[in-house]
Amino acid sequence: MIFTVAIDGPAAAGKGTVSRAVAAHFGFAHLDTGLLYRAVGAKGGDPVAAAQSLTQEDLDRGDLRTLEAGQAASRVAVIPEVRAALVAFQRSFARREGGAVLDGRDIGTVICPDAEVKLYVTASAEVRAHRRWLEVGGDEAQVLAEVIERDRRDSERAEAPLKPAVDAVLIDTSDLSIAAATRAACDIVAARLG
Ligand code: C5P
Repeated sequence: MIFTVAIDGPAAAGKGTVSRAVAAHFGFAHLDTGLLYRAVGAKGGDPVAAAQSLTQEDLDRGDLRTLEAGQAASRVAVIPEVRAALVAFQRSFARREGGAVLDGRDIGTVICPDAEVKLYVTASAEVRAHRRWLEVGGDEAQVLAEVIERDRRDSERAEAPLKPAVDAVLIDTSDLSIAAATRAACDIVAARLG
């Protein structure tokens, strides 16, 4: 069975957690596409060359989850040639046998416009910054400023900007527990599977 669940949304909205839970529930494979951009940003040197030669080892490095790696990712993600180098891998992952969940910024709009299910998981910038701050600590106002800056860069870029696909179902997690958000996502997937 070929079945793609596309989950997009801004940083720290809960889409990673929801994606992993949906994949586990239905036995689908999961790809966190943000990790690809984080690995390109972290590799240094020419980002286009880095994207074209990305290896599993690059994706396994331990420093990809930091705020700095997120900022570096969003800076290389504006480069069209970087995005182009990562398209084929993401598309073939999406159409693998057995079902796939991909989360990112442009999965429902660019990578998999024909995905069987498209979700857009979001929350207010303040709620997202607070969640990120609970994980990373430091100055919460600074974390909020970084969240807002990354949102702006991701939404305003010319190539594959962050936005919901017209046919995406919106899940706002500002006032929703992760369990409730996951349940909502699983119900939508189950209904589409029939
Ligand atoms: O989701 P995550 O926070 O790991 O993504 C890091 C950055 O990678 C995002 O801020 C965005 O700039 C970029 N990205 C993207 N397209 C995706 C996934 C991530 O441009 N599909």
